[in-house]
Amino acid sequence: MNSKVIIFDTTLRDGEQALQASLSVNQKLQIALSLEKCGIDIIEVGFPISSPGDFKSVQTISRKIKNSRICSLARCIEKDIDTAGEAMSSSDSFRIHIFLATSTLHMKSKLKKNFDEIMDMSIFSVKRALRYTNDVEFSCEDASRTNIDNLCRIVEKLIKSGVKTINIPDTVGYTVPNEISSIISNLFERVPNIHKSIISVHCHDDLGMAVGNSISAIQAGARQVEGTINGIGERAGNTALEEIIMAIKIRGDILGVSTNIKHKEIYRTSQIISQICNMPIPSNKAIVGSNAFSHSSGIHQDGVLKNRKNYEIIEPSSIGLKEVKLNLTSRSGRAAVKYYMDKMGYKKTDYNIDELYVAFLKLADKKGQVFDYDLEALAFINRQQEESEYFSLKFFSVQSISNGLSTASVKLLCGANIHTESSTTSNGPVDAIYQALNRITHFPIILQKFQLVAKGKGKDALGQVNILVEYENRKFHGIGLATDIIESSAQAMVNVLNNIWKAKEVNKQLKNLKNFNKS
Ligand code: KIV
Ligand code: ZN
Repeated sequence: MNSKVIIFDTTLRDGEQALQASLSVNQKLQIALSLEKCGIDIIEVGFPISSPGDFKSVQTISRKIKNSRICSLARCIEKDIDTAGEAMSSSDSFRIHIFLATSTLHMKSKLKKNFDEIMDMSIFSVKRALRYTNDVEFSCEDASRTNIDNLCRIVEKLIKSGVKTINIPDTVGYTVPNEISSIISNLFERVPNIHKSIISVHCHDDLGMAVGNSISAIQAGARQVEGTINGIGERAGNTALEEIIMAIKIRGDILGVSTNIKHKEIYRTSQIISQICNMPIPSNKAIVGSNAFSHSSGIHQDGVLKNRKNYEIIEPSSIGLKEVKLNLTSRSGRAAVKYYMDKMGYKKTDYNIDELYVAFLKLADKKGQVFDYDLEALAFINRQQEESEYFSLKFFSVQSISNGLSTASVKLLCGANIHTESSTTSNGPVDAIYQALNRITHFPIILQKFQLVAKGKGKDALGQVNILVEYENRKFHGIGLATDIIESSAQAMVNVLNNIWKAKEVNKQLKNLKNFNKS
């Protein structure tokens, strides 16, 4: 049996159905291009009959995608199939994906048809689709709740009529691993022409088993898995493809299959899709969550530093992540503190680990998360200096006007002196404030991340701004919390400025110490 599993992505169809706002043609194209770069075999780009906008997206994407096969969805209706064929006509090779429900429940209460009528409609539609392409996929919607005899009958007929891929959807996320395995095995045992087609699965996650069910189906012989990146999709979502792809890679010993995916593109693709779809990734999400490669407890951190394999089954670099992250929190041990000090280039003799560790625990209790520059400040700046912040925002005002220009003025206390500056920009009030602050400090900062989170509910909510900046090849974090989101944005930047200032102080003090030791 073929050991390649075809990866079929439906982020732009099943995934998009679940978004609060539909995506523009350009956004869909960006997603399709990133899926292509990731090596996805089949990209389901839309349901062209559903709206003129969807038709346009499918048409546009069809012209641009060359290395993945594109596919569009159609019901068993002539107009749907013709529209799908027309929308993809500029592509050299494409797939039409037709679906019709086969479960008794759907046939009776939704379609008001008997099984023979369903079979006739299906075969008629396959013939119509074959006018446009020889790559036709058929989904027996609600297959996991379909009578197995009926399923075997229709699958045999569909293959005979020219369907290359038979999809077995668990439309409502109802099945469990050994049940879907038995459905697929039954098809292989009872459908005489089954080997002329690829068996595919399409699982929803209503009971949190979409990935487990898809893996079980692979073990029973399925050679196409449908899903979406980050698992987005109707209700609880679809099979998360990044999880399937990595399970196939990491447990090749058990599964004995492989994919064509470029694994190093997984993280980037997941980020792009999360941002464009405005669907944040939970931090503990397998493979792509921000915590998926972070180690927090002291025992785990120590174990990872001795040998990563102790607590890591996936190398972060294999999905395109740069490095393993040890969270510096009050649960961290000395090993993690030492690891970050080593990483910053400090020798054991440069600081006292016992004193540093005590100070670190105190700060971690107060602040929650500690960063490498905090450790430096704890190790090398005297406590009093460390407690008092060098920069403090004394006043700000912003004005945004309808021509798109924003003006900000700030008063910043720098040590003992107050400095005032203002700036005007077309990039909004936050940028105006950041530019005005920059005119005072002149720190060459590159803003890398800006995140606004509501803390609390309704009109009492506070706006928390988290930012990440790069300054002289180092990363600095800042947090600001206020009812006014412009103020929290400004506070977050002032927090960053203080962290940078401390890092500069450490440098200065270490230089002085070196000069003193020399003389
Ligand atoms: O969940 C489902 O059954 C579907 C089909 C259209 C494949 O999305
Ligand atoms: Zn679906």
